[in-house]
Amino acid sequence: MPNYKTALVTGGAGFIGSHIVDALIKRRVKVYVIDNLATGLKSNVNPNARFIQMSITSPQMPSVLRKIKPDVIFHLAAQADLRCSVQDPPNDAKTNILGTLTLAHIAGKIGVKKFIFTSTGGALFSDEVRPPYSEATPPCPISPYGIAKRAAETYLEYEHKLHGFKTVVLRLANVYGPRQALRGEAGVVSIFSRKMSRGEQVIINGDGKNTRDYVHVSDVVSAQMLAMTKPVTGVYHIGTGREVDVNTIFRRMNKIIGGKMKEVHGPACQGEVRRSALDSRRARRELGWEPKIKLEDGLVKTIAWFQKLK
Ligand SMILES: NC(=O)c1ccc[n+]([C@@H]2O[C@H](COP(=O)([O-])OP(=O)(O)OC[C@H]3O[C@@H](n4cnc5c(N)ncnc54)[C@H](O)[C@@H]3O)[C@@H](O)[C@H]2O)c1
Repeated sequence: MPNYKTALVTGGAGFIGSHIVDALIKRRVKVYVIDNLATGLKSNVNPNARFIQMSITSPQMPSVLRKIKPDVIFHLAAQADLRCSVQDPPNDAKTNILGTLTLAHIAGKIGVKKFIFTSTGGALFSDEVRPPYSEATPPCPISPYGIAKRAAETYLEYEHKLHGFKTVVLRLANVYGPRQALRGEAGVVSIFSRKMSRGEQVIINGDGKNTRDYVHVSDVVSAQMLAMTKPVTGVYHIGTGREVDVNTIFRRMNKIIGGKMKEVHGPACQGEVRRSALDSRRARRELGWEPKIKLEDGLVKTIAWFQKLK
């Protein structure tokens, strides 16, 4: 196992990033967090991590990176809201393309050994291709967010060839679990959990038959840890391979809270893909990863966490 003593987690105050920070601290790695708190919370950051409030697009970022000199970077800082990317594509590209490229370029120059980039599985493919999508499925993003993530992946491949450091791209399915904010790429479980735990009516967009591949955040963290410890470079899809529709999510969650809520449908959201799921056989084979949390158990845990927040 490589001996990585110092890690940088960008976006470490966010939903997924903060869980990665916790896992690294448990492994006794020295952890720095760079986050501008655009959507993240200082209270999410493990007190044993060194927190730097800064944008990855800041002109100070290269000098800060040179001082930290991490062995490994987990890059999660992003404009992660697909709808915001549609409203303001240049702003999305500024963080998601330029921010990522700058980080990877400096990382290569200062001798970072591994760069693990969190990309998207859900937003890289369209309904023209049938799920589940594997790493061999040609990406065809239809939103500025998906286009920017794909561009960042391509730049990372370039930096890998230029500097020779190991790069791993983890394309995540729809992640859910504790600390998920109500915005971002895949908030349906957190939106429903928040509303249900407050007794507010949940509205299902459209007919509720859109499918997604729901993966629990602790399974994503284990994929990130394996991406760090295994001597790999490349792209990996991280999902369960199972398509679950929004009606099913609603019904299962409603059952968990005692079946108190009526099923109410509202207008459909424009621009969303109908179906999505990822084929993760490569991650299983090469990283030894497999999702451990069953959807039922993950939903119970997530609702319980939101109920405590009430
Ligand atoms: N949640 C999902 O289902 C999902 C699925 C696929 C990919 N992803 C990716 O995972 C990563 C983390 O997403 P998340 O769901 O935890 O969202 P999140 O919004 O909780 O986390 C993103 C973090 O990045 C920070 N950030 C945003 N812009 C920044 C900037 N310019 N400089 C520094 N920090 C900045 C935010 O404050 C936040 O803490 C993102 O890259 C996202 O695209 C998420």
